[in-house]
Amino acid sequence: MNENMKGKVVVITGATSGIGQVAAENLASMGARMIQIARDRGRGQEALKRLCERAPDVAHGIYYADLSRLSEMKRVASEIAEAEPHIDVLINNAGAVFGFRQLTEDGLEYTFALNHMAYFVLTDGLRERLVASAPARVVNTASDAHEAVTLDFNDLQSAEAYRGSFLKWLRYGGAGLKVYGRSKLCNILFTRELARRLAGTGVTANCLHPGFVATRFGDQTGGLISFFFRFAKRFALSPQQGAETLVYLASSPEVATVTGQYFYKCHSIKPSREAQDDAMARRLWAETARLVHLED
Ligand SMILES: NC(=O)c1ccc[n+]([C@@H]2O[C@H](COP(=O)([O-])OP(=O)(O)OC[C@H]3O[C@@H](n4cnc5c(N)ncnc54)[C@H](OP(=O)(O)O)[C@@H]3O)[C@@H](O)[C@H]2O)c1
Repeated sequence: MNENMKGKVVVITGATSGIGQVAAENLASMGARMIQIARDRGRGQEALKRLCERAPDVAHGIYYADLSRLSEMKRVASEIAEAEPHIDVLINNAGAVFGFRQLTEDGLEYTFALNHMAYFVLTDGLRERLVASAPARVVNTASDAHEAVTLDFNDLQSAEAYRGSFLKWLRYGGAGLKVYGRSKLCNILFTRELARRLAGTGVTANCLHPGFVATRFGDQTGGLISFFFRFAKRFALSPQQGAETLVYLASSPEVATVTGQYFYKCHSIKPSREAQDDAMARRLWAETARLVHLED
């Protein structure tokens, strides 16, 4: 057994299912102590049980939070920061796609809140712990869905994106996919700016595209997108294959000092031109900090 994560503490979101579940189990098998953030107690306890079966001698932990709500993101980050003096790796992975526009209790568009804001708020809340634990890593699950879209700072909450003509809708394969793609573009821009801000601290930040993976992703989306996902998953990678790059970025000595990069199949590749725009990354950071009521 590869035990190069023995004694390391890994915080992970979205590990009750799919890519995150497999990554958490593999990292536990490599000796890591896993601290999960889940929203559903039933699925959370099942996931914890599986981890304990993999590594019975390790005290894995679990916290509960709905990562679409700002108050929950902040609460769970501060609870973990309080309880865990040492964190080696933070994996921001929980995410979803939605067929229709919904607002969270904070008035944020749901995809933006869950897929982008939660990465930002959790990382901000655990930043001090990561820096104090350096060398440490932040790994963000992004997607190649970012390639088809651009970011509209006048419409970050996607009020306009869900309107538009039928032709525009067809071109993007549905407004939900477009809004999802934008949230994943945010993940890459966030990673880029985070890496810049963490320079010299010994904490790296990288993101990845896992490939198209047959998980629960898209199942509860509703409308035509659900139908599309159900059909397309017949040709998708397994969750085991989809978790490979995530596990690699969290654990491999090969990438111990690599930062600010976007990975696919365990290799650094170039994301879209817009995803490499440092001015845009800085602007997104400032806008997000404003929405979270944090100092930039
Ligand atoms: N599957 C793909 O083809 C693909 C491709 C590119 C990128 N990705 C990205 O990979 C990541 C993982 O997706 P997956 O494919 O593994 O999907 P999945 O099987 O649906 O898993 C999603 C995970 O996110 C959690 N989650 C969803 N909403 C949440 C909330 N409000 N609060 C807390 N946790 C929440 C889910 O918890 P529950 O168990 O409670 O639902 C689950 O653990 C996502 O960021 C996704 O964008 C996936």
